Amino acid sequence: MTKALIVYYSRTNHTHKIAELVAQGVGANVERIFDVQSREGAFGYMRSGREAMLQRPGRIQPVKEDPSQYDLTILGSPVWSWSLSPPMRSYALAQQHKFKRVAFFCTEGGSGGGRLFGQLQTLCGKPPVATLEITEGELKSGEYAGKVREFIRQISGVIASAVPESGHQGL
Ligand SMILES: Cc1cc2nc3c(=O)[nH]c(=O)nc-3n(C[C@H](O)[C@H](O)[C@H](O)COP(=O)(O)O)c2cc1C
Repeated sequence: MTKALIVYYSRTNHTHKIAELVAQGVGANVERIFDVQSREGAFGYMRSGREAMLQRPGRIQPVKEDPSQYDLTILGSPVWSWSLSPPMRSYALAQQHKFKRVAFFCTEGGSGGGRLFGQLQTLCGKPPVATLEITEGELKSGEYAGKVREFIRQISGVIASAVPESGHQGL
């Protein structure tokens, strides 16, 4: 039984691309977070940057998966204003007591991933077992593949070492 869940938010599909690769590599179930209100265009960009800077949660659509049913939840978000995106902040806030173990990944223009991971760790109340930070430059040049492979390797090790709870089949 698959016991890893990937939950991610992506406005322009960079984070989506990494989520798909990690999902294939790990064999995880996937849940994408969607906004209630569109963030398209210049106004959407400015509103997003401001909300992120003020560390406000964003309004998101209901999710289907329950992370408490998974041994590991892998959370992915773009960096906005050197911070966590408001939709992922909202998700992590709502689910923070349900995570058993967590791993984090992000995409960014060039900087802010470390700060984002710190914010997610605070929200989740536990350190990540692995992190992955990919820049737009790496996405364009294809140089991200090795980093993604290493992240998958680390996560697969964590999944393989998970002790099955009595009454379920493990991983
Ligand atoms: C509102 C906004 C703020 C951003 N702020 C940052 C930032 O502080 N640092 C950075 O490196 N990139 C920043 N970016 C760039 C995104 O992190 C980058 O394009 C990311 O890959 C987008 O992921 P997505 O396509 O999954 O939405 C920002 C983008 C947006 C829309």
